[in-house]
Amino acid sequence: MRPRTRKLWLVLHIASAGAWLGIDVLVAVLVAAGLLGGSAERRGLALRALGTFVWWPMLTSALICLITGLVLGWGTKWGLIRYWWVAVKLVLNLTLCTLILLALRPTMAEAIAYGAGTQAVIDRTALFMPPIVSLTALSLATVLSVYKPWGRTAKALYPARR
Ligand code: HEM
Repeated sequence: MRPRTRKLWLVLHIASAGAWLGIDVLVAVLVAAGLLGGSAERRGLALRALGTFVWWPMLTSALICLITGLVLGWGTKWGLIRYWWVAVKLVLNLTLCTLILLALRPTMAEAIAYGAGTQAVIDRTALFMPPIVSLTALSLATVLSVYKPWGRTAKALYPARR
């Protein structure tokens, strides 16, 4: 990949990762505001906003991060499974995308109903877990990206490219 092309993909990659992290922080704020303290009106507002506006921008930024990461891996010396730091990020990204669809998204209708003051019951743990798990995994991915630890996965199979 040409240096200028690589930089463009890298900008998109870092921007989408940053957007994803920001949305995660927003989820943490809305879950905390919706389930802990404050007036019933404020809690309801937070939960309805959480249920309505969050999962799809989060999935979009996660997929852009994944696609740009794949392009960077394929197009540079780093490869996709040639270095541990990239391979682990790939697993983290795929796992988080699956969790957004299978764990976060299904709880959103409940959050809206609960926030609207209906008799709906809400699984508090199911709402607290996504921001905790996702923020931890994304922080780890960011640290891996910067420090690039652990070297190559299998030196014989994937010799370093210049
Ligand atoms: C899980 C979320 C991810 C986050 C938060 C993240 C974050 C970052 C950041 C901040 C950088 C810039 C590091 C630097 O320039 O020193 C980077 C670079 C990179 N990322 Fe990711 N990334 C993620 C997922 C992925 C995935 C899924 C892949 C590929 C399978 C990937 C492949 C790469 C590669 C190859 C680079 C180096 C590009 C280069 O310098 O040419 N990333 N990532």
